[in-house]
Amino acid sequence: MTTPTIELKPSSTPVSAAEREAVLASPGFGRHFTDHMVTIRWTEGRGWHDGQLVPYGPLSLDPATTVLHYAQEIFEGLKAYRQPDGSVALFRPEANARRFQDSARRMAMPELPVETFIEACDALVRQDIDWVPAHGGEESLYLRPFMIATEVGLGVKPANEYLFVIIASPAGAYFPGGVKPVSIWLSEDRVRAVPGGVGDAKTGGNYAASLLAQAEAAEKGCDQVAYLDAVEHKWVEELGGMNLYFVYGDKIVTPELTGSLLAGITRDSLLTVARDLGYTSEERRVSIDQWQADSENGTLTEVFACGTAAVITPVGTVKSARGEWVQSGGSPGEVTMKLRDALLDLQRGVSADPHGWMHRL
Ligand code: PLP
Ligand code: COI
Repeated sequence: MTTPTIELKPSSTPVSAAEREAVLASPGFGRHFTDHMVTIRWTEGRGWHDGQLVPYGPLSLDPATTVLHYAQEIFEGLKAYRQPDGSVALFRPEANARRFQDSARRMAMPELPVETFIEACDALVRQDIDWVPAHGGEESLYLRPFMIATEVGLGVKPANEYLFVIIASPAGAYFPGGVKPVSIWLSEDRVRAVPGGVGDAKTGGNYAASLLAQAEAAEKGCDQVAYLDAVEHKWVEELGGMNLYFVYGDKIVTPELTGSLLAGITRDSLLTVARDLGYTSEERRVSIDQWQADSENGTLTEVFACGTAAVITPVGTVKSARGEWVQSGGSPGEVTMKLRDALLDLQRGVSADPHGWMHRL
């Protein structure tokens, strides 16, 4: 497979420095976008070609473009952090590149070479470097690589053309209110993913399928939905956009990867960070009965959710048809906050990077 080089096209007028600073003062999540984007095309028989760094702007699609009908689409999410010396580094872009390849295989799409994925991220961040928030706070630049099927036609089959794009968005807290614990609705009937399905692929349809349950959670006064497995409706899987961790004293436990949950890069990183901090970590099945019983008998001391956008967010109240309970007194737990600080310090370059996770531009 050929690796296209990314060509810089003449820039549009970027937003003014004053406008950019106003956005960076309070970026929110996914509301503002930088001045440029990367696009790379794939065509059957030709492979990847026409890598370009172009002004951010609308995509023009024929109404019969297959992604609009059959949802052949995948995406990623990763962050660039301003380091203490003013330079910028990406957190584990290679892991995102590999997961993007895994998602592509599952969705019958072409695999973008890992080095092209990383080169494209680097090119965009270098061009729009002034959009990377200052060092010191929790803000970062969130990168959203995605790929869509662009063949025109209504036949149901893998497309013969694709478009890969990366856009970037300055990001503050995903949940308004900072590290305030979130409330969880435990959905015992609606499922997110099924065995043999696409739950472990980062594809848009999984998120579309989660929206109704998410709306129901909001009606129950909850921030997020936790999904159970689709067969026994018993084993805890994950949230719509985050993995879960259960803290038992100095041991952290996360549901094992069964194929129907996403292999989160934050989840994976925390298995290692926890060991570095002297905790033990374990991947195993956790049942809803055990979650409730261990919370009530006090052995389950904290629960938190984790993901790139949400970083580490404590879980406070848990509601379900079977009742309601409160985790760690409804305030952020000690282990949760230690892990959160350790991960953020590493990402922001405040502490050492013993595992070589930071990719400097
Ligand atoms: N689970 C789902 C369904 C997600 O969308 C995400 C977010 O990317 C995660 C878990 C966490 O993954 P990561 O830590 O790689 O961001
Ligand atoms: C991410 O954390 O990067 C995601 O893609 C999750 C999404 C719900 C924002």
